[in-house]
Amino acid sequence: MAAARGGYTRSLAGRGLFVSFEGIDGCGKTTQITLFLARLREMGIEPVRAQEPGGTPVGSLIRGVLLDSANANMDPRTELLLYFASRAQNVAEVIRPAVKAGKLVVSDRFTDSTVAYQGHGRHLGEDIVFRLEEIACDGIRPDLTLWLDLDPVKARSRVRSRTDRMEVGQDHMEVQPLEFFERVRRGYASIHRAEPSRVRRIDAEGPPEAIAESILRLVLPRISHLRKDLV
Ligand code: TMP
Repeated sequence: MAAARGGYTRSLAGRGLFVSFEGIDGCGKTTQITLFLARLREMGIEPVRAQEPGGTPVGSLIRGVLLDSANANMDPRTELLLYFASRAQNVAEVIRPAVKAGKLVVSDRFTDSTVAYQGHGRHLGEDIVFRLEEIACDGIRPDLTLWLDLDPVKARSRVRSRTDRMEVGQDHMEVQPLEFFERVRRGYASIHRAEPSRVRRIDAEGPPEAIAESILRLVLPRISHLRKDLV
């Protein structure tokens, strides 16, 4: 039977909250995560940060393989499995223990990235992603996902100005054609339509501070039990 998108997060003792940030390259995710973490710390919450791909010593090695532009001929299925290999390690080593200990986990990407990039962008379809999710994620899914939505043309010019400013080359994903990022964006829209209460769309076009405020307004009601300034 084909796996389907669904809520099957296992109950975890002392459950914390798992929040993920998503969006195409250049959507401003890194800036928003930095602002969000700073605001959480001001409130006395010490979040656990996760990153995909990467976030663990094994995951960092896998990230290097995935994003190395020398590996441009990587088969889409190899790519898919490597993203899930990094995720399985992240779940086991970082995310599951933190959520179980009642912490707030903030992840830079999670399985929704694979649905959007490999499922839609690489044309592998969503079903294969959900089948692997069952194997790799041990029932862990984000409680809340913040999808920073930006037009791919604008996102691309942000990526170019960043790589020019930092004088670095673009990675294996950033060099994909515009049509690829249009498919990825449609993938995120499909996830949002399927799970509108978990996946919240944030307009990523305005000033960073205003976007950060709207993110905080969405998250605050769900983290009041973790806030030290309220106790
Ligand atoms: P980052 O630059 O946001 O850290 O993400 C690295 C790249 O990896 C980005 O282009 C998106 C891509 N990616 C996938 O294609 N599939 C995935 O499952 C994940 C987590 C990231």
